[in-house]
Amino acid sequence: MAFREYKIGCWMFGISLSASMFVTIFLPGLDISSVSSTELALEKQLTYGRESAFSYEDPFLQGKGKPIKVVLTKDPMNGSAMDETNAYVFEAGTPFPAGLNHTNILGEDVKALSESKGRIAEADENGTVFLVKIDDASDTPYIENATATRGWTPAKVLSASDHTIMAGSGKTMFVREGCWWCHTLLPEQTQDWQSFGRPPMLGDFNGESPTTFGSDRKAPDLLHVGARNSSREWMMLHFFNPRLVQVHSIMPRYDYLWGDKDAQGNVIDLEAWDVGYQKYVSGETPYPPEVPDYADNTEIRYLIDFVLNLK
Ligand code: HEC
Repeated sequence: MAFREYKIGCWMFGISLSASMFVTIFLPGLDISSVSSTELALEKQLTYGRESAFSYEDPFLQGKGKPIKVVLTKDPMNGSAMDETNAYVFEAGTPFPAGLNHTNILGEDVKALSESKGRIAEADENGTVFLVKIDDASDTPYIENATATRGWTPAKVLSASDHTIMAGSGKTMFVREGCWWCHTLLPEQTQDWQSFGRPPMLGDFNGESPTTFGSDRKAPDLLHVGARNSSREWMMLHFFNPRLVQVHSIMPRYDYLWGDKDAQGNVIDLEAWDVGYQKYVSGETPYPPEVPDYADNTEIRYLIDFVLNLK
């Protein structure tokens, strides 16, 4: 019986590991699967797409394979004016988020409405436009497949509006650049309410992957940052060099997200910019050099779209 203690030890280890898995993963799993998506969860899924971290479509995290959020003020079919509406355009080949592939994730009521009124079962990855709607009778949010219900195709919707928000690609930048090392997207049930706004609810996360809560906060919570600061210019200065607007900021520069050329097509020379900036820091010149306008569809545009979309 030389191995008696060893066997008891193995059993105890096995039992305590399984018990802790059961309590920390299985039981909360039951809880989570019984929660219905909120309107915000549906919006987030349709804005961010399938996966904001590593994925087959986007192995190097460049923001590929993401839906486009479009703000519409006129009907894409006949051009007549309508109330401002957000549409989520999945061009051909853009993978669907978890809630559309595994509809149980939506929660029972949301799933039923999305299938009956929203006709999401007819959606396919050859190009579909979605809306988030609220059912008047039950006050429940659901996803509408506007391509099936209204004939809105990606091409029609994209040409009816010039206000596109690339927040899905931007969330990939947020993950890739490690913003979550310092920032949380999770105000807590404490005095956080006063400065950072309302904490999220469990149903706000159905189908979102990854959630980018963050864990260790070294900087302001960003869950509602777009509501307290909606200035694109401020974001540009701050991301190019945070010290331009917050003298003692510890936040790194993200000037390389501008890419090679600015909006006018001029080459961006970061070293020359830095020489000018050092002169400003040492007091030789009264102003820092200008921050270049970013070109369309650059990584910085994606990131700023994501940040300003956090309301
Ligand atoms: C090393 C830690 C650190 C990292 C990494 C970091 N930040 Fe920050 N960030 C800060 C600090 C500290 C502040 C507050 C001072 C300031 O405004 O610069 C801040 C402020 C901000 C603000 C303004 C917040 C407000 O309440 O107005 C935004 C927006 C922001 N960061 C976005 C980002 C994004 C997006 C990334 C990733 C690309 C990022 N940060 C990466 C530390 C960090």
